[in-house]
This record gives sequence, structure tokens and C-alpha cells, in this order.
Amino acid sequence: MFETGGYGQGGKITREGIRLHAREDFSAMHRAGRVAAQILDDIEQHVFPGQTTGELDRLITEMVAAHGATSATIGYRGYQHASCISVNHVVCHGIPGSPIPPSKHEKAGRGNDVLVDGDILNIDVTVIVDGWFGDTSRMYGVGAIKPFAERLVKVTHDALMRGIDAVRPGNTFGDIGYAIQSYVEAQRMSVVRDFCGHGLGRVFHAPPNVLHYGRPGREAVLEEGMFFTIEPMVNLGRSETRVLADDWTAITRDRTLSAQFEHSVGVSADGVEIFTMSPAGRFYPFGV
Ligand code: MF3
Ligand code: CO
Ligand code: CO
Repeated sequence: MFETGGYGQGGKITREGIRLHAREDFSAMHRAGRVAAQILDDIEQHVFPGQTTGELDRLITEMVAAHGATSATIGYRGYQHASCISVNHVVCHGIPGSPIPPSKHEKAGRGNDVLVDGDILNIDVTVIVDGWFGDTSRMYGVGAIKPFAERLVKVTHDALMRGIDAVRPGNTFGDIGYAIQSYVEAQRMSVVRDFCGHGLGRVFHAPPNVLHYGRPGREAVLEEGMFFTIEPMVNLGRSETRVLADDWTAITRDRTLSAQFEHSVGVSADGVEIFTMSPAGRFYPFGV
């Protein structure tokens, strides 16, 4: 590692380009992460059959403002919404208000953004608080969820938590990916390879790419002060994805169901701090 200098941020950057943040930066990240997590808590009561993804995003936009925060996604590479809402076989980057694309068993889509009984959806919110980014997503169910869908959601949540359990100084990013991949594949599900987690802090997307698959001991070594997201996407079918003509919406190629959970975390002296813990303890908003 070497002193950066010139960026007015002090601190160090590893030779892989990963910033090592100072101890006081952890509290700033906890503040940003808590706002994003609070919004995901508060939106839960608005998820019900007949609700639209457009209305959910409108509510989220209001909530971001009510916290005195800024949306990191509005204006990001032309994206115009405060959230990504990815329903059923949408893997990530679903656009709120857009018609939900047809699933495996439908010829035409439902032609609108109305949630129906049995849907599962991911809501992903990134906010900026005092210049720091908080990025988190979780799954929600609409009405009564089918057992195979609930199992996918549970496996995806548990895969993220196993990845987080591998975060400590001296471990590597490959250890994180391996923890996630080996667990998911043992459940006969697949890990998406086309999208990854990312470093963050006073920027939205920074090095490294945090892969959700890998080999023990590979990739960069984790060091105290690294901030990044872990956000595995897991499919019931094959891992391949396709991006729709809107240039954002990613779906599973085989149009099987997909799920995702995301936390922003920091490497502490002896382990990990999760910045996006749910204040209500509703990160996994399903029965046990
Ligand atoms: N929050 C997403 C992530 O986890 C990024 C969304 S970018 C957007 O990295 F433009 F699609 F909103
Ligand atoms: Co992210
Ligand atoms: Co996100």
C-alpha cells in the first residue's frame, strides 16, 4: 500500500486500489447505512397485492428526502429512480413503474407494474448522507409465497450472511465468494456471475469487484478499513442473465426465479461491521 495524497481524503489505498478508511469513517458509514435500512423497513407495510412498483419508488423518494438524505441512483448513469425494484425473474436493476416482464409461464407480461399475490421482489436503495453512501437491498413477499420461492429467498439471505461471516482481516475476497458459492450450489441453486458487489464509501462504486463466487485464498487480502457491499443474486435455474432493451432490467435467461440481498460492510480490526442493519430487525422480512 501507499499514501494516496492529492485527493484530499488522506488515508491509504492498497495496490489493488482499495481504500483503507479511518476509524472515524465507520461512524459516518453507519449513519448512511442506517438511513437506507430504515427506508427498507418503512417500505415493507406498503408491499401488498395491487400495489405498484412506481408507487413504492415514489414513497421511497419521499422517505429519502424526509431523512435529509440524497438518492445516489437518481441521475446515476441516466437512471431516474430512487430505487431498483426487481420482481420474480428480474435479477437486478428493475425499473420502478416499468411493466413487469413476462415470466417463464406467461406468454405476454402482465403489461403493468402491479404486484400480485405470490410475487417476490427485491428493493434496492442507495442514499448519500453527509457525502457517505449506504447501499442495501432485501427481498419482500406479496401475499402468500410459494414454498420454492420462499426457499430461494432463504438460501439467498443465508448465502449473504455466510459471505459476511468470512469477512475479517487476513481472509481474502475469494474466501467470501467461496463461502457464498459453495453454499448456494450445495442447495442446487446458482450464483449470478454477471453482477458483483463493490467498494463504496464517499463514492458509489469503487474497487474491488466483490465476486459472489471464487476459491479460498484467491483475490485481494481483506484489511481493516475496507468498505464494500456483498450482494449475491441467486437463481433457481441457470446463472445466465440478459439485459432488456431498456438497458437496465436484468432477467434470468431461462426466466426462472431470482433473489438478492445486499449489505454494506466494513472490515474492522478483528472482523466485520454491518452498516445496513435493519433498525426493526426486519432484514429478512419473512417467517422463520
Ligand atoms: N444499488 C445498486 C447496487 O447495489 C446500484 C443501482 S444503480 C442504478 O450497486 F442506477 F441502477 F440505480
Ligand atoms: Co451495491
Ligand atoms: Co444496491
